[in-house]
Amino acid sequence: MPAPSFPTASAAETLTRLGALAPAFALEWIAECDSTNRVLMETTPRDDGRMQVLVADRQHAGRGRRGRQWESWPGGSLTFSLRRHFAAGAPVPAGLSLVAGLAVARALDALGVPGIALKWPNDIMHGDAKLGGILVELQASRARAPSMSAVIGIGINLRLPPNAAVRDQPGITDLAALRAAVPTPATVLAAVLAELHTVLARYEEAGFPALRDAWQARNAHAGRTVQIRSETEVFAGECIGVDVDGALLVRTGEHTRRVLAGDVSLRALRAEPT
Ligand code: BTN
Repeated sequence: MPAPSFPTASAAETLTRLGALAPAFALEWIAECDSTNRVLMETTPRDDGRMQVLVADRQHAGRGRRGRQWESWPGGSLTFSLRRHFAAGAPVPAGLSLVAGLAVARALDALGVPGIALKWPNDIMHGDAKLGGILVELQASRARAPSMSAVIGIGINLRLPPNAAVRDQPGITDLAALRAAVPTPATVLAAVLAELHTVLARYEEAGFPALRDAWQARNAHAGRTVQIRSETEVFAGECIGVDVDGALLVRTGEHTRRVLAGDVSLRALRAEPT
């Protein structure tokens, strides 16, 4: 069974682990809400320059991409949202979920979980199994128009309970399957926040092009045949990487097609020979 969680102790542990970076975050850790993304999207942005972070042990209406639900379990998963303000002239937001994924992958590396890959645009993968997901929602900032606020929601499976419905889905994994000792949610959160701090500052100053190579080095589908499915069409091609604005590049015969996130789903068509 997942360990019980104690929100106040977990918040204190996170801040201790963040050390000198702790003042950069306004952290609140609660037992339950519907969706940390929903709550932050409807909360008045802070005006003190700190990044607002809301963690919930459990969400009863967690939001996934493309209208899906995201399940969570106290102590068995990490579910949180971070609000980051971007000044006027900020880079195109399309690259945000990609750079957030990069931060999660680097944090897991630092915690001794190597081999984390990224599935465009927002999945945290190990091999062909999904370990976590990211949902970015944008808001024009009323307080400091015309600037932009992004709510970056991150869910990571730490130790899925035996009865979790998601266990029945193929291609889902958790940290317990990858590492003998599963770190506490606060340990994982502190590592991810530290990486987000670095990566988002770089993104703000130089845009996605500065982080593109690092993302491509973790592209789970590089060189693989993928199928792209949108509401209007389905096509297949070779995944050759991402463009400078974060669009996926898929080669179909002579042409290279740019795919924008939206309501698109991507899947590998076949396993590549090893
Ligand atoms: C996906 O893979 O579909 C994205 C999942 C994102 C889930 C996280 S959990 C914390 C935050 N709050 C939400 O309601 N959703 C995101």
